[in-house]
Amino acid sequence: MKNKRLIFAVSAVVLVLVGSFFLQNKQTETAKVDKKIVGVLQFVSHPALDEIYKGIQQGLEDEGYTKDRIEIVFQNGQADQSKLTTMSQQLVQKKADVLIGIATPAAQSLATTTSEVPIVLGAVTDPVGAGLVADNEAPGANITGVSDKSPVEAQMVLAKELLPQAKTMGILYSSTEDNSKYQVAEAEEAAKKQGFQTKKMAVPSTNEVAQTVQVMSQDVDFIYIPTDNTIANAMQTVANEANKSKTPIIPSVDTMVAQGGLATVGINQFDLGVQTGKMAADILAGKSDPATTPVYTFTEGDTIINTSQAEKLGIEIPESLKGSAKLVTTEE
Ligand code: TRP
Repeated sequence: MKNKRLIFAVSAVVLVLVGSFFLQNKQTETAKVDKKIVGVLQFVSHPALDEIYKGIQQGLEDEGYTKDRIEIVFQNGQADQSKLTTMSQQLVQKKADVLIGIATPAAQSLATTTSEVPIVLGAVTDPVGAGLVADNEAPGANITGVSDKSPVEAQMVLAKELLPQAKTMGILYSSTEDNSKYQVAEAEEAAKKQGFQTKKMAVPSTNEVAQTVQVMSQDVDFIYIPTDNTIANAMQTVANEANKSKTPIIPSVDTMVAQGGLATVGINQFDLGVQTGKMAADILAGKSDPATTPVYTFTEGDTIINTSQAEKLGIEIPESLKGSAKLVTTEE
């Protein structure tokens, strides 16, 4: 009799233990199944792209995709084409539910790897020109996202205001980036309207930047830089070389002004990221389909002026601009 009770008690305990073990296991398993995978491929590290990635995380979180609900797999291609290819394949193999490409070369690499997994463009200047979508309004396939096409006309008007004596504008960009081609053509047009002559100078890689800036500084009055990753990556060198001959730089984003550019009208890089994150969240939630979701373009930029740089160059900032512009100093 006693034995029977003991056996009963022991088996009851065992049953409860085994039961709770299975139950727990099942819970962690369902949690795993529920966690969506977001694969992010960033082309290279420079302040603008780093800022965009921060914004992406914020945008996902704003839409309810907090760290416990998604797993972000992040890869940085370090401007290396073969790394981009391998990393794209890895992200697809990881069964990412949505992929995000930060900058044109990263997005292009993802696009050649998969035509099924949804891809969100994180700040691609010209999605059509880069062969990523058929049409910005109706992308047509597995790709949509955010364009960071910058307000080039407004940038030229600002250049004229700050540098009324300038006659020739040099355009510094890389010959390998599809995103720069479009903006260079646009800048040439807009410069003409302000009465500037233009001289284009393309570099094949960051290695040629210093020498090109030296040569360029001799025959232009200021240097314009589009949203080019190669130049953004070498911005410190560009600023150092241009400062030697006191040649002002008008870049196209806030982060490059903070690194030693004079001024620009630019789109906030963090905001670009937030919008990218939101579009990825909508796709994860099944609320949108890339094929029918238009590419998002920002229309308004902020005026940013670097006052320490203006002082170095002996440039007087007009009172009219002082009130409306965001004033910064060079970040060392
Ligand atoms: N528009 C760039 C591209 O398509 C990426 C980019 C975003 C960028 N912000 C930038 C490049 C700032 C240089 C500076 O690849």
